[in-house]
Amino acid sequence: MQLHLTRPDDFHLHLRDGEALGTTVPATARTFSRAVVMPNLVPPITTADQAKAYKERILAQRPPGSSFQPLMTLYLTDATCPDTIRAAQAAGDVYAVKLYPAGATTHSAAGVTAMEKVFPALEAMIDVGLPLLVHGEVTDATVDIFDREQLFIEHELWPLIKRYPELRVVMEHITTRQAVEFVREAGDAVAATVTPQHLLYNRNHLLAGGLRPHLYCLPVLKCERHRQALVEAATSGEPCFFLGTDSAPHGRQFKEAACGCAGCYSAFGALELYAEVFEQAGALERLEAFASHFGADFYQLPRNTETIRLEKKPQPVPAAFPFGKEQVVPLRGGEFLQWTLL
Ligand code: NCD
Ligand code: ZN
Repeated sequence: MQLHLTRPDDFHLHLRDGEALGTTVPATARTFSRAVVMPNLVPPITTADQAKAYKERILAQRPPGSSFQPLMTLYLTDATCPDTIRAAQAAGDVYAVKLYPAGATTHSAAGVTAMEKVFPALEAMIDVGLPLLVHGEVTDATVDIFDREQLFIEHELWPLIKRYPELRVVMEHITTRQAVEFVREAGDAVAATVTPQHLLYNRNHLLAGGLRPHLYCLPVLKCERHRQALVEAATSGEPCFFLGTDSAPHGRQFKEAACGCAGCYSAFGALELYAEVFEQAGALERLEAFASHFGADFYQLPRNTETIRLEKKPQPVPAAFPFGKEQVVPLRGGEFLQWTLL
């Protein structure tokens, strides 16, 4: 069985920097035409000039002949001023602004400490038409980690979109039924990305029968009921749900550690993993819109015109990939993908 699809885009991707780009850029460029590149480097990408310089480093790692385009983002901080937003939009490399609640996830220490601190920046984003990308988890240490997304929706996202109904918002890497319901109810200015790991795995895969550090990401995997709600949303054909892998590689020793980093590396075979989800759900005919149409439409970008082919043919996943001087263990490392990109 073969599928012909418009070449897809990845609307949530971590490429990292330095030597890691030699692994991450070719892995994504093999499949995807464009990717929204997260700005959570250390230090973060907070200005148009930094975004442009990072973009050049990414472009330098494209395989020969590749036309892969990184769509850059800015990292929102309490100190981001409206002029920075306007300058970024005018320079042309920046397509969105990312809100990390301070302390919510990997490299979020410089993130936002209270929503009202960024109101002036958000108003500038509405003016110039830049979308806000949100890591949707509360950071209160007393809140159970499995409830953090749901509480963020109630305490932060509903008030935000009521205050700024014109602001385009992407709730990134949704993990719960409550997030699916929020996105459905919030109106046309709100959408969500869904990752392969949250569609394929639940918290038993992470925790039962042994701790699997390579399945640890944030927001953390939830229970089966939530996974099923995500599959139902992603395969529903509703344009507010689209592809964003959140491929977030870390060197093996930082994952297999007493205090392991959050992030799953999926870029090497992400589309193949999504195809498995859509096949299992009996919705392969909806994969193309989720992977190649709805995200571009939300970002007001032209849809890609090139096509790619996927075949239902198992292929082994290496146990690890080189990652600069280190190694990265991929999702499904040492196991099989059920589909192959031709
Ligand atoms: C991401 C990372 O490693 O940069 N980690 C993750 O678990 N998803 C950050 C993020 O997207 O939360
Ligand atoms: Zn991410």
